[in-house]
Amino acid sequence: GGGPRPRLTVIGTGYLGATHAVCMAELGFEVLAVDVDHSKISRLSAGEIPFFEPDLADLLRANLATGRLRFTTSFEEIAEFGDVHFVCVGTPQRPDGYGADLSHLNAAIERLAPLLTRPCLVVGKSTVPAGTAAGIARALARLAPANAGTDADTVSDLAGVQLAWNPEFLREGFAVADTLHPDRLVFGVASPAAEGALRAAFAPVIAQGVPVIVTDYATAELVKTAANSFLATKISFINAMAEVCEAVDADVLTLAEALSHDVRIGGNFLRPGVGFGGGCLPKDIRAFQARADELGVGVALRFLREVDEINNRRRDRVVDLVAAALDGTLAHRRLLVLGAAFKPNSDDVRDSPALAVADLLARTGADVTVVDPVAIPNARRALPGVTYSETVEDVAADADAVVLLTEWRQFAELDPARLGQLVRRKLIIDARHALDGDRWRQAGWVYLAPGRPTGV
Ligand code: UGA
Repeated sequence: GGGPRPRLTVIGTGYLGATHAVCMAELGFEVLAVDVDHSKISRLSAGEIPFFEPDLADLLRANLATGRLRFTTSFEEIAEFGDVHFVCVGTPQRPDGYGADLSHLNAAIERLAPLLTRPCLVVGKSTVPAGTAAGIARALARLAPANAGTDADTVSDLAGVQLAWNPEFLREGFAVADTLHPDRLVFGVASPAAEGALRAAFAPVIAQGVPVIVTDYATAELVKTAANSFLATKISFINAMAEVCEAVDADVLTLAEALSHDVRIGGNFLRPGVGFGGGCLPKDIRAFQARADELGVGVALRFLREVDEINNRRRDRVVDLVAAALDGTLAHRRLLVLGAAFKPNSDDVRDSPALAVADLLARTGADVTVVDPVAIPNARRALPGVTYSETVEDVAADADAVVLLTEWRQFAELDPARLGQLVRRKLIIDARHALDGDRWRQAGWVYLAPGRPTGV
C-alpha cells in the first residue's frame, strides 16, 4: 500500500517488546522503544540483548547501525515521536498465584496517555484478562489530551487517540522468525480507522499473505488465552496418556506418533515428557480460570485445573522414577540434572519443569548438580541451593543417576560410552524422550523414560 510509513514506538523492552522493536525496525519502520529500566535501555542501546534469544542480537546491532531503531527512557520523547504505540509490558502472575498482575500495564497507560496530544493509535500486545482492553480504551478517552471533545470509541478516523488489541503468539527460541513471519495477525479494534492504522503498521507482514482476523477487543484478548490453553491442554492430554501407558507397560511415544497421523489431531504439541513450563502457558491457564470465575463462567474452564494438575504430576513422576531406580533412597545420592531452562534455546527458568524437579530432588536430601548451557545465571537466582555446571563431563564423576529434563541438542549428542566411564552408576532417566534409548542400553545403561515400557 501507499502512504507514508507510520512511526512506531514500543513501550516495555522485555522479551516481547525488545523482539517486537527489533523486528519492526528490520521490516523498515522507524522505531523508538522505551523502558523505565535505565540499565535495560543502556544495554539495548549498546547492542546487547539482556536475555538469550537466537538471532536477536545480530538484528539489534544491524538496525541500531541503520539508525531506524533507537531506545530511550523518556515517555515524552515517544509520545512526540509515535504514530502507533505498541504496549508490550509484562502481565505476570499475581503473588496469590491465580489472576494476572496488571500494574505494569496500568502504569504504562497512565504515564503515556496524558502526553498524547495528537492523533495516534495505542496497541496493546500484552496478554490480559478479557475485558481489560475496554477499560484501557476508557482510560485513554479520559486521560489523553488529543481526545478532548471526541468520543474515542466512536470516532471514525484517527481524530483522537484510539486503542487496538493485537495479541502476540511468538515462542521463545523462535521469537525473530515468529515475529517476522507470524501465522496470523489478530486485530481487536473499535473503528475502521484503527484497523487502517494497524494495517499500515503491519503492511510488510500482511504483504506476505499472512491472514488478518479483525474483531472486537474481547475476542482478540480471548484468542491469546484460548490458544495457550489449547496448547497446554494438548500437552497435558498426551501426558495423561503417559500415566495410563505406565499402568499397562504401553509406549506413549508410539501412541503419540500414531495419533499424529490423524490430521484432525496433528503431531505438534503432542510431545509427552515432564510437561509445560515457562512464563506463559502455566500463568495464562491460571489467569484464564480466575477471569472465568469473575465472569461467572468458571465451570466452563474447570478442565484447566485438571490440565495444571496433570502437568504437576509429571514432575513428581520423574522424582518417583529416579527414587525407584535407586532402591527408594535419594538422600546423599549424586544426581546429575541435565537442563535448567523451561525448554531448549532459552535461558528462561520461569516455572521451569527442570528446575522444579531439581528442587524436588534436592529436598529429598540428594546431592544435585544442574547442567545447562545458558540458563545458569537465572537458575542460580531461582534455585540457589544446588550446584551448577555448563558442561556434563566436568561434573559426571561419581554420579548415581543422570536425569534429562530439558532437551538441549548438546544432551542428545552425549556419548553414552564416554559418559559411562565417568559416572558411578549407569542410570539415565530421559524425561523428555530426547535420547536414543537403544543406543544407551547398548552402552550398558539402564535407560528409563516416563510413559515408556521399562523392559527391553
Ligand atoms: C508459548 C506459546 O507457544 C506461544 O505461542 C505464546 O506466544 C507464548 O507462550 C506466550 O504466551 O508468550 P513459549 O512459552 O515460548 O510459547 O514456549 P512453548 O514452545 O509453547 O513451550 C511451552 C512449554 O511446553 C515448554 O516447557 C515445552 O517444553 C513444553 N512442551 C511443548 C511440551 O512439553 N510438549 C510439547 O509437545 C510442546
